[in-house]
Amino acid sequence: MSKVYVHNRTGGPETQELIDRTIPQPGPGELGVTVHAAAVNPMDWKIRSGLFGSQRDLPAPMGREVAGTVNGVGAGVDGFTVGDAILGPVSPDFGGFAEDTIMVASDAVAKPEELSFIEAATIPIAAATAYDGTHQIELTPGQTLLITGIGGGVGLMAAQIGKVHEFRVIGTGSESKRTIVESTGATLVPSGDGLLSRLRTAAPDGVDLILDLVGGDALREVAELATSPERIVSAADPTTAVQLGGTALVHTKEALTRITSVIEYDLVDPHITATFSLARAGEAIAAVEQGHVTGKVVIDMDLL
Ligand SMILES: NC(=O)c1ccc[n+]([C@@H]2O[C@H](COP(=O)([O-])OP(=O)(O)OC[C@H]3O[C@@H](n4cnc5c(N)ncnc54)[C@H](OP(=O)(O)O)[C@@H]3O)[C@@H](O)[C@H]2O)c1
Repeated sequence: MSKVYVHNRTGGPETQELIDRTIPQPGPGELGVTVHAAAVNPMDWKIRSGLFGSQRDLPAPMGREVAGTVNGVGAGVDGFTVGDAILGPVSPDFGGFAEDTIMVASDAVAKPEELSFIEAATIPIAAATAYDGTHQIELTPGQTLLITGIGGGVGLMAAQIGKVHEFRVIGTGSESKRTIVESTGATLVPSGDGLLSRLRTAAPDGVDLILDLVGGDALREVAELATSPERIVSAADPTTAVQLGGTALVHTKEALTRITSVIEYDLVDPHITATFSLARAGEAIAAVEQGHVTGKVVIDMDLL
């Protein structure tokens, strides 16, 4: 048997539970994966809460991005063998907060030896989103990137990608994030009353791209700073972004391999700020669900 963290119905944290299942077996084009680490994302609790609809079979496994080793290779898969270390998004039906899961082989990337499993687990969703969010509209060195929610999992990585490209990076977040945000080379403009005027002081000529990681009023308040509305890209709130004349973040196939190399060469630090055992997955999800996390929270299967 193999453990997996699920939610039993649509709702709050009380619907979550660690259960046993038989070890999942890969079908054609799939890999069986022994999970070593799984990173937590806001989408985990948003899916559980029904914010993306409630059409899933229950109990529904939770968790979407993992790093682990291949324990089974489905028919028709080339390029992977049992024992390979990999990272990637999991098949949603099998989840990532689990001792074993399933990954579509074409979604998997070899884990660089230089990266630990917990670092690698932050790449498939959070780092790939940071990569796509900073490339969807190409900036040139010296142009200004504004990131709302800069101190979270995606934001800190997006800030570092921006610095690699020599953009001027500023970001909104709570004052408690100042030290970690400044360690990326970015400027923190604290959220709260008077934000727009503080941002105008920091960027008097406006900003060339807003990468929105918060949405709602936090996006509406800063939107006018974009040099044109199309220069708003949102991972958090596509509806509001489109209403403002911007776009939803679009995922690309190449993001995963590219950002894996960038992190392998130590140009971007995923900033893992907390790790939990699988038995404490509920605490890991709660740490992200409270909405003000710093960096990435990861479930480490080696912790007891
Ligand atoms: N479309 C996709 O495929 C995709 C993929 C990944 C993530 N996302 C979405 O992108 C968003 C960010 O993801 P994430 O993983 O980075 O989330 P996260 O790790 O939870 O970080 C969110 C950050 O936003 C900050 N924040 C909250 N309210 C704020 C406000 N009013 N102004 C400024 N900052 C504020 C939080 O802390 P402080 O308030 O303390 O600064 C926190 O650091 C989420 O909505 C997530 O669902 C979408």
